[in-house]
Amino acid sequence: MSMDTSLRDLEALKTRAALGGGAERVEAQHQRGKGTARERIAALVDPGTFEEIDALAVDHDEDGERYFGDAVVTGWGKIDGRPVCVYAQDFTVFGGSLGEVVGTKIAKVMDVAMKTGVPVIGMNDSGGARIQEGVAALAGYGDIFLKNVQASGVIPQISVIMGPCAGGAVYSPALTDFTFMVEKTSQMFLTGPEVILSVTGEQTTMEELGGAMSHVSKSGVAHFAAKDEREALLEVRRLLSYIPSNNVDDAPFVDGGDPIERRLDDIFTVVPSESDMQYDVRDVIERLVDNEEFMEIHEFFAPNIVVGFGRIGGRSIGIVANQPLYLAGVLDIDSSRKAARFVRFCDSFNIPIVTLVDVPGFLPGVSQEYGGIITHGAKLVYAYAAATVPKITVILRKAFGGAYIAMGAKHLGADVNYAWASAAIAVMSGTQAVNVINRREIQAAADPEAERKRLIGEYVERLEHPYIAAAKGYIDDVIDPRDTRVKIGHALEMLATKSVQVPPKKHGNMPL
Ligand code: HXC
Repeated sequence: MSMDTSLRDLEALKTRAALGGGAERVEAQHQRGKGTARERIAALVDPGTFEEIDALAVDHDEDGERYFGDAVVTGWGKIDGRPVCVYAQDFTVFGGSLGEVVGTKIAKVMDVAMKTGVPVIGMNDSGGARIQEGVAALAGYGDIFLKNVQASGVIPQISVIMGPCAGGAVYSPALTDFTFMVEKTSQMFLTGPEVILSVTGEQTTMEELGGAMSHVSKSGVAHFAAKDEREALLEVRRLLSYIPSNNVDDAPFVDGGDPIERRLDDIFTVVPSESDMQYDVRDVIERLVDNEEFMEIHEFFAPNIVVGFGRIGGRSIGIVANQPLYLAGVLDIDSSRKAARFVRFCDSFNIPIVTLVDVPGFLPGVSQEYGGIITHGAKLVYAYAAATVPKITVILRKAFGGAYIAMGAKHLGADVNYAWASAAIAVMSGTQAVNVINRREIQAAADPEAERKRLIGEYVERLEHPYIAAAKGYIDDVIDPRDTRVKIGHALEMLATKSVQVPPKKHGNMPL
């Protein structure tokens, strides 16, 4: 065959592959406010950088109609000049469902990502296992799950849910590090509303059951909800700017021109000194990080703790902060899970952890106990204790009880621990403490209320301050709140070369 003919044939095959499931289905996709797989990839990566692979892998339907590339587009490109691997499921071909060819293509591009140490971003828009292919479809999912687990902690894995994703199509995202959803056009569920109605009798809708807001606020399965596809993909690009390409690289250094020595002059207007008054800890975080740039993760889930990425002196940091605006910043099941997972991510990828503590304790209650707060709280303890990245903790206002330890205390291996001069560190607050240790004296007093107040005052004076912890070296220094950024910045510089030997073992047994 002549070169001309060969090139013409190739062109024809590529054109056919680019059509996906055909013009009608593409139009239906657009009508729903959704892009095609190739449009999505083009919106994600730097212009002109996408190299598609396996566009000529082929499957066919029962009538023998062949679909080149099958229901997924795979390949690599660049984001902000850094290489990434990508795959985007094509809903126009068999509803983006996963059969043997799709499974093999995704597994292959994940292998490329692992070999080369680059993040993998999956755009999911799929009806799950391809029903017609039976066990071969299930096998395809199994292969991908295995790769997800092998890649976990080696390269960042990001999932973007961009359509109705069911069955196996949601388990792979659950194994990845971060999941984005698009409001109104994306859903995730194991089984849809019709199956639920027939099995349990519960009535629900696709959106109520598995829409973006359900998963970012109720289940916590997804981390981000974007108003449209474009916003979701821009946010993926932004997230990548904070994280390294793999577990041996450092995150990109971004000099924003904001000096480490900048003092937080107005911090007293943000944090009230009365320990039970609300404030938004994000106002502290924004002042702390370079140019007020903070990317919050899991914003709507367990809002009593805030986690996310920022930079100090150009270096990426992961921030974990109690949020006094919600439930007084208490640690409960969801906030423990949320923070533990974030700490694990940072530790996997060499991102220092900065912890801001203002916590009244763990949330008491029957439902918390029955829900397993002991195990979930232990996740946070485990995550902090196991993390070997630089760990810097600042107690802003109060740190009581087990929560003092769980929030990155020195005892869990934190490197640098500071407390603001007004901070309270104790087993519990004075108000609670006197009811336990002074109950008889209060009852016997001529004026029990006056006696209670006096005893609380005495307790606060004697035990609720940072100097006992500082005297024992649990706190490295008691600081002026206005110096918080300077102190953290200097600690980060010093800890940049931190290296820790972990005793050899296969892996620990985290309280999952
Ligand atoms: C083959 C599928 C398919 C599937 C959809 N299609 N899902 N083909 N296997 N799993 C096809 C449809 O036949 C249709 O083809 C096209 O995709 C679009 O589907 P529609 O139903 O018209 O679209 P929509 O109304 O938007 O609904 C999307 C949907 C729905 C919610 C995803 O299709 C659906 O419920 N699909 C089945 C979901 C499911 O139960 N999957 C199996 C899960 S079990 P045409 O030719 O008309 O365009 C599983 C096991 C894995 O995944 C376990 C691993 C742990």
